[in-house]
Amino acid sequence: MKAIKYLCTNSVQHLKLPSIKIEKSVFPEGELYLRIKENIKGKPVTIITNITPTNILEVLFLVDAVKHAGGKLNKIIIPFLSYARQDKLYHPGEAVSGAVVCSLLRQLHVPITVYDIHSEKLRKYLSFEHRSILPLLVKQLPKWQYVVVSPDLGGAKRAGKIAKLLHAPLLVMKKTRTKKGITIAFSGNVTNKSVLIVDDMISTGTTLLKAVALLRKHGAKEIYCIATHGLFVGNAKQKLKQSGIKKIIVSNTLPVKATKQIRVVRIEQILKKG
Ligand code: R5P
Repeated sequence: MKAIKYLCTNSVQHLKLPSIKIEKSVFPEGELYLRIKENIKGKPVTIITNITPTNILEVLFLVDAVKHAGGKLNKIIIPFLSYARQDKLYHPGEAVSGAVVCSLLRQLHVPITVYDIHSEKLRKYLSFEHRSILPLLVKQLPKWQYVVVSPDLGGAKRAGKIAKLLHAPLLVMKKTRTKKGITIAFSGNVTNKSVLIVDDMISTGTTLLKAVALLRKHGAKEIYCIATHGLFVGNAKQKLKQSGIKKIIVSNTLPVKATKQIRVVRIEQILKKG
């Protein structure tokens, strides 16, 4: 059995993984040029790449380059897939961007693994193996008796799995998007309880901050959070620092710097297992 070679795009260059060398440049017109610079003829190749808001063409080109270089592309591993929140038409006239991205990936006819995708509804457009890093993140928590919280209905299944793992009760919040932003509500008892919020991603931190404010108002003793993807857009880290959340545990699907409050769990070893 020949050893698998990894081909990593820039989107995952923060991961400490050995990658096949590629030449990447941009023509004066702005067109992208890609070339594999190693002999991969007959070798098994796995592409590891996030789908960022702008790199889908790069991924398509890479797959083509591997084929032309005679590599045997066995899998594409996607630690973080952007656009997965737009999984259906929410308002008339929108683009269903998650469906578009998944349909593009489907036509590559390569097995795909995605980690903690926002919405499994996208299986309608792409068949993929879905894996979760959340059970690994849970191991980093102090061993309290938690109330597990999903900040919205869409995340209930995800948080439910963690509640089951911890033999903990599950509380699902109701998140509503309005023109003024989001509102969150819940019913249940968290007074003097240790609470664990489970989510797929932290972007601006708004969801988490709103959930935390409500939980504190209802007397939660201490609040922890696990989320696979730490985007921490803008001043999210700063705002979360002041929120009183004891610990936020994320993975390094995206490049995140740890802080006193934010612990980052590395996933390279998991990715290497395929
Ligand atoms: C939304 O449904 C997701 O599961 C996350 O809760 C959300 O995307 C986090 O975004 P933000 O941090 O900007 O509230």
